[in-house]
Formats: sequence, structure tokens, C-alpha cells
Amino acid sequence: MRRIAMFVAASTMTLPLAGCGVLNATGSSTTASPTKGNDITVGVLMPDKINTRYKNFDVPIMTAKIAELTNKQARVDYQNAASVASTQAEQMQKMIDDKVDVIILDSVDSHAIAGTVKKAKSAGIPVIAYDRLAEGPIDSYVSFDNELVGEVQARTLLEGMGPNVDTSDKVIMINGSPTDPNAKQFKTGAMSELSGKVDTPSDVSFDTKDWDPKTAGKETTEAIDKLGKGNIAGVYSANDAMAGEIIKSLKAAGITDLPPVTGQDADLDAIQRILVGQQYMTVYKPYPAEAEAAAQMAVYRVQGKDIQFDALTQDQVDSPTNKNIPSQLVQVSAVTKSKIKDTVVADGIYKISQICTADYQAACTAAGLK
Ligand code: GAL
Repeated sequence: MRRIAMFVAASTMTLPLAGCGVLNATGSSTTASPTKGNDITVGVLMPDKINTRYKNFDVPIMTAKIAELTNKQARVDYQNAASVASTQAEQMQKMIDDKVDVIILDSVDSHAIAGTVKKAKSAGIPVIAYDRLAEGPIDSYVSFDNELVGEVQARTLLEGMGPNVDTSDKVIMINGSPTDPNAKQFKTGAMSELSGKVDTPSDVSFDTKDWDPKTAGKETTEAIDKLGKGNIAGVYSANDAMAGEIIKSLKAAGITDLPPVTGQDADLDAIQRILVGQQYMTVYKPYPAEAEAAAQMAVYRVQGKDIQFDALTQDQVDSPTNKNIPSQLVQVSAVTKSKIKDTVVADGIYKISQICTADYQAACTAAGLK
């Protein structure tokens, strides 16, 4: 995996230069079958507006990379389905009707979208599955190792629960959306670490429709009622937006000594909660690596730069409908208080001044963030 990541980093640095005019000026390049130049349209479909990662990171990063790779000549048609699978199918159908050149798809419902993916393929439009593995004849896939995300969350949760963790300790499980294949993988990874070490009673384990934070808050209240407020050793939350509401529910129930709560996405407010000890951890998924790879895959595919494309997709995954899908899986890291500086700050995701606003000054100083 590390070897692949280095290779990608190297190609990121050299390819824009190599691509600069060479292909168009001379018509000769390393490409097998150049089809289009820089004047292309890339359709980008994102799943929801609840999670800030799409608006703040994925879309702007991939848009900038597409511009860089096409000498600012490509158009990006960005649509967000606001958690509604049928809306996404309509948005994608419109892109097919508009004859976009390639589609980057982060699906609301990976199964339900398969028919539209098939239509895109019939229309000769490659579909790159982004972050979530859409079913149907996708061209390629870029994401993270999602089972590993779940393992990292659970391992860090156990660490947060301390050295005396016991099989009778109760952990509430607030998982993600049942239509998101990632959510299932996060859960599988997490359970592989938690099983046999703590108790995850099935009546306090929830799959949360649409990753809706309000629903996650209600599920937590229900779990507290079932277990009793003094009987919660930890909360597995699959992402940060849900963790925010989970923590509100724990506090509303009168729990002052909060149990460790996990998250994912490195949302800014989650980083701040981690600083003040309300949330134990999040998972930082390097968005630039994922979004830039998607942009490169899209542009190289349309331009017929097969060698560069293959270099980006050295992994292979299977979906329920397709086998050996060319893929790139990017590495992730756990973020606890002591890791904020080396992860999201080092990667330029947040400036210290964004994190350390007035309310967080003291915590920042204590954590050595200056
Ligand atoms: C997952 C994604 C997470 C999180 C979640 C909610 O598929 O991998 O990073 O954003 O969806 O949108």
C-alpha cells in the first residue's frame, strides 16, 4: 500500500508538467488511444449535504485538480443529491442526456444506482465510483480501506476505554447508513476489534438511515434508556456529524463524565471536541489524495492516457456485481488530541487559527497547538 501511495505522489508531481501541451501540441504521447483533449465535461455527483467533507474538501479539491490537468479548459458539472437516491438517479440521467465525458459518482444508494450506471456505460460514459463502491459496470474506484477505518476507530476506542476494559463493558454502536456499503465495512472492521473484548448488545446497535445526525441522537437516547446512564463504557459513532449529536444526547441525559466517543471525517468541530475531551477520536482520511486521484482518473480516462490511468489504479476490488475493479485505496490515520498537529494541521486541512478560536485557546495551549 505504501509503495502505491508513493508512486501516486510521484505521478501527481510529474504528470501535469508532462501533460502540459505535449499531447495537444505534437499529438504524440505515451497514450494508447487519445480520444479527447482538454475541452471536456466532468460530471460530479455527491451524496449528501449533512457532512461537510463534500463541500469543504472533496468537490473543491477535485475541481481544482481537473482545472490544473486540463489547462483550465474542462467544465465540472457538480450535483449533490441531498441524501435522496432518486434525486441522484435523476441528476445522473441528466448528465448522461447532456453527454458529459465522464462521471465521478459518490452514491447515496450503491445498489439502487446500478441501473443508471449501466445506462452511462451504454452511452459510452465511464463512471468512476468515488468513496463508495457503486454497483453496476463502473470503470474504476477510489476510496480508502474502509474496513481498516472501522478497525482504527475500534482500536482507538478500546485505548480510550483504558487498560481495564472488560467483556461486560457496554458499548453503544451507532453505525452509518444501510444503503452505504462503506458503513457496512466500517462496522465489520469495528466488530472484528470489539468482539470478545467488550459487550456490544444488539438492542443498542443501530444502522442510521442517511447518516442522519438527529437520528443518531435519538438512537443514543434510546440506548441510554435501555442500558442506564451509569452503564455506558463507550460509544462507537461511525462519523463526526453523528458524534456531535450523540454527545449532546449523552449530556442531555445528565452524563457528566463522558465515555469515549469515536468519529470519522476530521470535521472541524470534531477536532475542537477532541481538543476539549468531549470526543475521543476521529479518522482523518486524506481528502487531497482521494479527490486528486479521482480527478486524474477521470481526465486520464477521457484523454486515453492509459498508462497514467493504470498507474493510479494498482489495487483491485470486487463489488456485488463486478469483479477486479481497478482501484486506488488511500491510507487513513486516527486522530486523538496528541495527533491533531501531525495530521490535519500538517496536511494543511486546517490552520491552527481555525481550530484555536477563543473558546479553544486554553485547550490548544495545553495540547501544544500554537
Ligand atoms: C461515508 C464516507 C464517510 C462519511 C459518510 C457520511 O461513505 O466514507 O467519510 O462522510 O459517508 O457521508
